[in-house]
Amino acid sequence: MSNNDSQLSLIFPPEILKMVEANEGDLPIEASDTFTRFLFFVATSTVKNSSPHTAKDIAVPSVSGPLEKFEFIPGYINYVPLDEDVAPKPVSSANSATNGPNVLSTILSSPVVDEFRQWQNKEAAEKVIADHLIGLQPEALELWTDVTSDATITNLAFQGMAAHLLVPVTGQGNVAFKVVLASLGEVPVRDGNERMGATAHFDADRNLLSIYVSNDDATYVPGDDLWEHAKWHFRSAVFAYVTIADHLSALHLCVSELTMESSREQLPADHPLRRLLKPHVYLAGQTQTTAIRALAPEGGIAHRLWPFTFEGLAKLLKQGAESQPFEPFPKWLEKSGLANLSDEKYPFATDGLALYEVCREYVENYLEIYFPGESIVSDAAVQAWWEQLATTVAGSGLGALQTRAQLVDLVAQIIFAVSGWHSHVGADTRYLADPSFVGAKVRAGSELADIQSTILIYSLNAVTGLYQPKLLDDFTHVYLKLHKEKAVEVFQQFQKSLIALGRDIDSRNESRSMPLRTFHPAVLDTAVSK
Ligand SMILES: [Fe+2]
Repeated sequence: MSNNDSQLSLIFPPEILKMVEANEGDLPIEASDTFTRFLFFVATSTVKNSSPHTAKDIAVPSVSGPLEKFEFIPGYINYVPLDEDVAPKPVSSANSATNGPNVLSTILSSPVVDEFRQWQNKEAAEKVIADHLIGLQPEALELWTDVTSDATITNLAFQGMAAHLLVPVTGQGNVAFKVVLASLGEVPVRDGNERMGATAHFDADRNLLSIYVSNDDATYVPGDDLWEHAKWHFRSAVFAYVTIADHLSALHLCVSELTMESSREQLPADHPLRRLLKPHVYLAGQTQTTAIRALAPEGGIAHRLWPFTFEGLAKLLKQGAESQPFEPFPKWLEKSGLANLSDEKYPFATDGLALYEVCREYVENYLEIYFPGESIVSDAAVQAWWEQLATTVAGSGLGALQTRAQLVDLVAQIIFAVSGWHSHVGADTRYLADPSFVGAKVRAGSELADIQSTILIYSLNAVTGLYQPKLLDDFTHVYLKLHKEKAVEVFQQFQKSLIALGRDIDSRNESRSMPLRTFHPAVLDTAVSK
């Protein structure tokens, strides 16, 4: 592969360029595709050189007060580069081969080009994935087989990545449920790509009936010539919307970032709530700063991976912030109209609710040690913390803090979100193992991820899959010395409840038509630190 027409030769010295080329081997990246080559190199180097993070890496808070914030989408999304879990870097390392600000700005400014080359066939894609890409990925939570079948769309909607987008329907013939992502069709895309967006309809027994495709403004049913393309549209729309709006924006840039900011700004370092939240905002500053500088900006990974214009991408990020991500899971479930479905139909609710309840019991018992009864409501720092969250777009549904139950619900939701919900919207290896499962871009005549998208998405998934502190690790070193014995007892009860939940999920999975491991405590991290 020649570097003659790549901007990489402007960025890297010859010795690094040699490493980039050796690393690529026979991976079919276009020599001129500077960004994809750079990202693949960063991903492989990161996976190779990173050591697992453990609970001991979670720093004990030592300072509080105003933080230096930078705006990304004014009024919606900001970030704080200074992370309390990371020692400040010496100036020299900030200019390393792949991290320096000049390198990043050069890479981001390289042209955004949709490379239309397709894999020769599925076997060719699978061979390259097996040889170069799958080894970089975190473990898949479940095995999804027969990924192009109608039944897989059902599983996506009732327990997979789209389960929170499912809505019950009445008065529309035999349609009993649907997943509506048709509005994605209003988001502009670059030339050569079909508009994204689709809505899937199911009957009362969860059978897939039809799919509306925004790009065609047409509805397809099984047997139609374009049925396979319609299903590809739907699966790809789910992957795009959930990853951009629900994972990147609502969870990382809102729940994690805003909780971290308000905790560090409003809660003194030795405040019991600050210590309770600390493991769950581990590395939040660094993670979100990296996301905003490399994943979310114009010319960044998301802009290139998906077909949306940057304005379209920003619109989706705003929608994520507006999706009320601080609303406690049980309240959301009640409002969804899906709360009364059986485990057989909607296993997503059974396991999600069980995890939320374990988190809530932990929060309630811990806070009771330091703030008996309703006393926490009159704590000035807690009120300021709540107020800061409530005055953001994402927290605008919180209202005023008037009862202890409100606070317990919110803190439980935060812990549930950064562990379980992150697994729901972010554990993507299970959807990527087969290139005919989901694609980032949809083009006429193809139901297979293209070469460029495959390499970009696998590289992104690799760097977001590094080993992080687990919910089942011991992170009690961040607790206060005050009442520590009692707090550790509460923590141990929390761990016992999590282990019992894992056993319950294992046993439920034995009788389910497809296992669900999204909310299994054995796979959950303490925070969205990746
Ligand atoms: Fe994530």
